[in-house]
Formats: sequence, C-alpha cells, structure tokens
Amino acid sequence: MGVSFRSLGLANTGEMFRRAFAEQYAVPAYNFNNMEQLQAIITACVETRSPVILQVSSGARKYANQTMLRYMAEGAVKMAREMEEGLGCEGEIPITLHLDHGDTFELCQACVESGFSSVMIDGSHLPYEENIALTRRVVEYARPRAVSVEGELGVLAGIEDKVRAEQSTYTRPGEVEDFVSRTGVDSLAISIGTSHGAYKFKPEQCTRDARGILVPPPLRFDILEEVERRLPRFPIVLHGASSVIQEAVATINAHGGKMRDAIGIPEAELRRAALSSVCKINIDTDGRMVMTASIRKTFVESPSEFDPRKYLGPARSALVEMYKRKNREVLGSAGRYGKEVG
Ligand code: G3H
Ligand code: 13P
Ligand code: ZN
Repeated sequence: MGVSFRSLGLANTGEMFRRAFAEQYAVPAYNFNNMEQLQAIITACVETRSPVILQVSSGARKYANQTMLRYMAEGAVKMAREMEEGLGCEGEIPITLHLDHGDTFELCQACVESGFSSVMIDGSHLPYEENIALTRRVVEYARPRAVSVEGELGVLAGIEDKVRAEQSTYTRPGEVEDFVSRTGVDSLAISIGTSHGAYKFKPEQCTRDARGILVPPPLRFDILEEVERRLPRFPIVLHGASSVIQEAVATINAHGGKMRDAIGIPEAELRRAALSSVCKINIDTDGRMVMTASIRKTFVESPSEFDPRKYLGPARSALVEMYKRKNREVLGSAGRYGKEVG
C-alpha cells in the first residue's frame, strides 16, 4: 500500500505556482542528498517564509536510500512546523517533495507510492512523440492522485542525472502548445541556455572580465517570451540555474581545490526570469559548492579537527545563508508566507 503525500504534510505544486504567478516570483527547487543539506534548506525557507520544493534525483535516491529519503522529507515537514511554532510564524510554508529528472514511468510510480507530491518525467532526450507518450502515461497515473507532473522540451548541456549532453538544444516554441495539451503536464521545463553542473559554458563560448573571470553568453529570453506568448499563465521551469558563486570557487581553489573556469548563470538573469512565467528555479550545484568550500576551509584552518560536526556544522550554516540570499535576492520568494523571522 502506498502512502499519500497529504498524510506526510506535503503539498503539490498547484497552489504554489498559482501564487508565484500572481505575485511574480519563482519557487526555489533545491536538491538534497543528506541531512545537513535538508536541514539548511528547511531552516532558510522557514525563516525567510518561502515556499520550497525539495528535490530528489535518482542519484540521490541511490546515495541516501529511497526509504531513508522519504522519512527525511517527512521529518523535514515536522521540523518546519516545530520551527514555525517556536518562532511564532503566521501560517505554514508549503513544502513539496519532487522527483528530479525521473527517466521511467516505473520510477515516477515508485516515488508517488512512497509519498512524493510532484514528479518530473524527463523525456527530453527522446524523439518528440515518445516524449509525449511517456509523459502522458505519467500524467494519467499521477493526476488521480493529485500529484503534479513536470515535463521537459529541449535539452540542456551538461549532466542530467545519468545522461550527458555535450550541447544544448533550445526548446522550439512551436512545439510547446501541442506538448502541453497532449500530455496534460502541470509545468514545463524549457531550455534557454542554462545548463547543469559547475562548468556550464566552455571558455570559448564566453568573454572574460577585467579579473579574468568568464562572462557567459546571455540566456535566450526571446525563446522564453515566445513560450509565454504561446502558453499564457502556464508555469515554466528553469533547470541548471546555479550561478556558480565565484566566492565559493575562489575559496575552494584557495584551499587545495581545483575548479578553474567554473561558471554559472548570472543572478541578474535569474532574477529577470523569476519575474516572468518561470515559477520554479532548480539549484543544486551552488549548494554543493558552498558546502565544499566551507569544508575545505575548515580542513585547512583546523587540521586537528576530526569530529564531522565541526566541519559539517559550519558548512550547514553557510548553506542556510546562501539559500536565504537566493530566496531574497534571486527568486523573490522570501516573505511570501508571512514576515521573515530569525
Ligand atoms: O540535474 C541534476 C541534479 O543536479 C542532480 O544531480 O544526478 O548528480 O544527483 P545528480
Ligand atoms: P544546477 O546544476 O545548475 O544546480 O542545476 C540543478 C538542476 O537543474 C537540478 O535538476
Ligand atoms: Zn535539472
């Protein structure tokens, strides 16, 4: 017998996206693989009063164990509610548990049965008609259970779970109405020049600023605008939206790391996207890098430490600050469910 997401205190993305549209912000979709990341996401989103989508990739499911992850998410909801009570918050922030880059019907089904309130079926690498057929099948299964479904059109460069695409294929706006009406998806991920991971652009695609830091090519807002015109008031998703924070790159490199020419999407462009029909922005790499930067720094500065809490604790605090700043300055999702606290 499966478990319903509602019994875990989770929400689907329906009302979340309606509000994000009406108030012109994007809901953060942060990936997690371990307890510290999850605690940081919840703390930041409760304190900034931001809705949140907790994202689990199939890689995360393997790393952390699928059963463990489902109970972690349930624990995260309980932690959020206790924090809200303790801080005297008005109301509750909505929390969604979402499968990131689901690649088969069976994986989506297993996640729905274990309490996920939203799934992505990523058929973007398939021929168009196969993408439609697979996505439609997932929607037909998820809809009666009130679970939200995200589909994708267009391919992002970089690694999408197990699949590596050397080059991006921009979404063809001419396909979006047909795809959405034939599949019945609740949201659509599109490709407008973002990409996964810490090396989103090759140096030859970029220019360099005065400090020698790569400046990436701009996102294709013309494609986004055409998609918006064809799908009025329909929730659009941006994957690969880490900005690859240069302070984290510098800290990593200054403490024994090697991340030369790591480059992401400028936050000003993401801010602009959050004001459009983009209702969900996916960020994973920035969390990985902020955590790694903090841990590397602790190891170099305190070489005698061996208690994991002494390096994971500061890393978790750095993550909280980064997520809060993203909610406030990039997504615009802070303060949407009451006044900020903490
Ligand atoms: O889109 C990919 C996400 O960043 C998840 O990455 O497959 O390494 O867990 P992962
Ligand atoms: P980043 O690698 O840019 O953080 O993208 C994450 C993502 O799209 C998860 O689906
Ligand atoms: Zn992605």
